[in-house]
Amino acid sequence: MLIDTHAHIQDKEFKKDLPEVLERAEKAGLEKIICVGYDYETSVEAVALARKYPQVRAVVGIHPHDAKTLNTEILQKLYVLARDPEVVAIGETGLDFYRNRSTPEQQKKAFIEQVKLAQELYKPVVIHDREAHQEVLDIIKKEKAGKNEGIMHCYSGHLPLAIDLIKAGFYISFAGPLTFKNAQKTHEVAAKIVIERILIETDCPYLTPEPWRGKRNEPAYVASTARKLAEIRHKSEEEIAYITNLNAKKVYRIKD
Ligand code: NI
Repeated sequence: MLIDTHAHIQDKEFKKDLPEVLERAEKAGLEKIICVGYDYETSVEAVALARKYPQVRAVVGIHPHDAKTLNTEILQKLYVLARDPEVVAIGETGLDFYRNRSTPEQQKKAFIEQVKLAQELYKPVVIHDREAHQEVLDIIKKEKAGKNEGIMHCYSGHLPLAIDLIKAGFYISFAGPLTFKNAQKTHEVAAKIVIERILIETDCPYLTPEPWRGKRNEPAYVASTARKLAEIRHKSEEEIAYITNLNAKKVYRIKD
């Protein structure tokens, strides 16, 4: 049974057909879907979906793009929301120096505040890193962000960084780009890191894997990333499903 460890099924892209999307996920062998917030509103929606559907869990937090929205009031509301038993982690947070929709200073401040929130609640953090590898690693080390473990979502960095992140308490999560032919650097990371620290995700509605590239992404398609990982690791799809399921339940502390 597969777990999509990072999905945005509360996104407006799924407003019309979420029940059908969830049905297809179940048919594709998904046991759990982790619904990740990117601002306060989508975090509230993630918790609402987790309460409604037994296979859904929530991650609450503010994406680096929206770091500028994290004022004292929102942070306090996030502390309250994060105490909900359906919430399995804090995120997605981190740094995105590619788009810089919030300034680097706003992003770093929001990242550190969310790391502190995760530590206070003994929860893992879900990190987004785009063109900010060194800065993300510096904050992780300085703030001991991996104290309650954490997830580096949609990993696109090189092997030495992945190893540093694993040593700092992190799991490495692969999304649809793992299935792309030209993703040799990511294939190398997936081939060489310890399998006990590998997760799979869709990041839907974005990053659709092959052979559905160009279409809207959805949790059922995580099976395609699992298949690619099985090929890279020379294991059966069943073994990959079993191992990544265990890893996801361990880092998110899901008991059932
Ligand atoms: Ni995401």
